[in-house]
Amino acid sequence: MSVSLADLDVEKFALVTGGTGYIGSHTVVALIEAGYQVVIIDNLDNSSEIVLSGIERITGRVPHFVHADLRDADAVIKIFKEYPIASVVHLAGLKSVGESIHSPSKYYDNNIGATLNLVKAMQTAEVTTLVFSSSATVYSSSSEPPLGEDAKKLPTNPYGMSKYIIEQVLTDMALANRKWRFGILRYFNPIGAHPSGRIGETPSGIPNNLMPYLMQVAIGKLAKLSIYGGDYETPDGTCIRDYVHVVDLARGHLAALRFLEEANGVHDWNLGTGKGTSVLELVKAVEQVIEKPIPSEIIGRRKGDMPVVFADVTKASNELSWRAEHTIEKMCVDHWNWQKRNPGWYQ
Ligand code: NAD
Ligand code: UFG
Repeated sequence: MSVSLADLDVEKFALVTGGTGYIGSHTVVALIEAGYQVVIIDNLDNSSEIVLSGIERITGRVPHFVHADLRDADAVIKIFKEYPIASVVHLAGLKSVGESIHSPSKYYDNNIGATLNLVKAMQTAEVTTLVFSSSATVYSSSSEPPLGEDAKKLPTNPYGMSKYIIEQVLTDMALANRKWRFGILRYFNPIGAHPSGRIGETPSGIPNNLMPYLMQVAIGKLAKLSIYGGDYETPDGTCIRDYVHVVDLARGHLAALRFLEEANGVHDWNLGTGKGTSVLELVKAVEQVIEKPIPSEIIGRRKGDMPVVFADVTKASNELSWRAEHTIEKMCVDHWNWQKRNPGWYQ
């Protein structure tokens, strides 16, 4: 069902950048289910318009969609002229740590350039509320887990640095003008998919991240998982991360938007479960769901990996009343359900 602009509740009209992407599509579903009208801007660099029909199947609503690049300043200004946007959730960005090390200018241009265009267009349109997708990767490797929002920040790769610079830009803007309402969400390790199996993560090429790699081994597309390092100072020797269900993460954006209705300035929250899971524990959880073993081999450490990363989620709990609800098992069930239904790149 498409909604005419005349019928819109203007207070609840959100622009979602990167809204056809993995986390964006789940966030759009959460917003629509909470009564928001949504317009998505995405250049489809890492997603597909097919996602829109997945969103429609889940919510019964088709979000407005603009196929454009945020670096195209005129296109961004035009969106704010055409739609009665009251708030922005900014997820669009490139996200591969490895690629960013090889092509740093691409990351700075895309992630920072796009954000500058976006906030300039917001300024012109007098839209002052923005929730930004940042990452746990901004924290220094010397910071001890659990990582609270005040932990030292020192990104070690251009991707993380692009996120950190954007955080600084937003902080300086909020200091210079009290009208701004900025929410910075630092995601830990999002996995899982919508329980309907209609939207999820669709990595192009060979995945770099653990869960999508595991899923492709599970479905027989890849032969075996290489586990990067079995000699860390952790109980089973493998790295520990804070995996969080993407549906929980999506609700976090809604909670941040609600918080910003009552508060100006810049605010930051870590979104994770607050619990760590090792690589071997995640492998075991997937094996239980798919009911067969995952071929795997422990090889050398991956450069730059931190042994243990998990969030202190007290601030999100206290200020947003947000808490991750889904277990690791549910993350595996939902991710597998999506993987089985969608074995390839938007097939
Ligand atoms: P994704 O690649 O699935 O989604 C990002 C979307 O942004 C894609 O649809 C892509 O086409 C679009 N996009 C990129 N550059 C654009 C541009 N210049 N103009 C318009 N659209 C553009 O990634 P995701 O996993 O959904 O991540 C969303 C955000 O969350 C990203 O900013 C990412 O850096 C951040 N994040 C992701 C993770 C993770 O593990 N997935 C962790 C921490 C932070
Ligand atoms: N791992 C393997 N084999 C693989 C892939 C990963 O053993 O094939 C291991 C890694 O060495 C690490 C763990 O699985 O110990 C998790 O690795 P991911 O690549 O899935 O996740 P990271 O924690 O390294 O990084 C992710 C995103 C970053 C983001 C960060 C925090 O890739 O962009 O989470 O949000 F910044």
